[in-house]
Amino acid sequence: MNIADFDRLVAATKETLARIAGDFSPAVFASSLAAEDMVLTDLILRGGLPIAIFTLETGRLHQETLSVLDRIKETYGTEVTLYKPEPAAVDAYVRQNGLNAFYDSVDLRKECCRIRKVEPLNRALAGNKAWVTGQRRAQSTTRAALDVQENDEAHGMAKFNPLAHWSEEDVWHYIRTNNVPYNPLHDKGYPSIGCEPCTRAIQPGEDVRAGRWWWENPESKECGLHIVDGKLIRIKPAAQPTPA
Ligand code: ADX
Ligand code: SF4
Repeated sequence: MNIADFDRLVAATKETLARIAGDFSPAVFASSLAAEDMVLTDLILRGGLPIAIFTLETGRLHQETLSVLDRIKETYGTEVTLYKPEPAAVDAYVRQNGLNAFYDSVDLRKECCRIRKVEPLNRALAGNKAWVTGQRRAQSTTRAALDVQENDEAHGMAKFNPLAHWSEEDVWHYIRTNNVPYNPLHDKGYPSIGCEPCTRAIQPGEDVRAGRWWWENPESKECGLHIVDGKLIRIKPAAQPTPA
């Protein structure tokens, strides 16, 4: 790793976060409590930036993931706000389809994600001017064209992916050098972590998202947080200066 490049990347990310806090207030950060999100948590909280942090607590997260909430409290003295699914919607889904119906079809999987993640996300985002995610381009083919700043038309606000250009190595270098707490599952073969029944460890050499919804095709492997109607919401690329 080239340390000068890494330092520039961190400086640019700090600038992006400061711009969000300054120009897009109120802004919120959606944290899944995975490694990328811990980098952003550290930058936001150590930077004293007024960006509120929330987690969608689906009711199906690993204990290890939930333990990160306590680590954040211990390290930074900050409580992450939890958004939970509507109990009535969860009950109806489970009564009708069963507790683990997401294995039965992509539609039932997406419906579970809609109830447990997408609807609570809408509540968490309401009233804000921008939201922040920990998505990176290198995470999957569906994220290869990710921009740092996007226009989230569905939620009517700006959406920022400040780590869009970070590599996995950059993320871990930041975590180690800054002593950032992280989900212990990352040391057990889980590079990407979602809900417990829908995430498994990967083998060396497998794609980083191979353990997410592993029974589905790669194209369907998004939970609806970042896609609407099967389409990525992306602003047009920034206008390029026209040569004189
Ligand atoms: S997912 O769409 O496949 O579930 P992934 O786990 O890669 O997403 O996370 C990408 C980004 O989505 C995270 O960096 C975070 O900003 C947001 N995110 C995912 N899951 C959650 C969650 N449970 N709570 C809050 N934000 C989340
Ligand atoms: Fe349901 Fe699995 Fe989606 Fe979690 S990841 S909301 S358990 S389908």
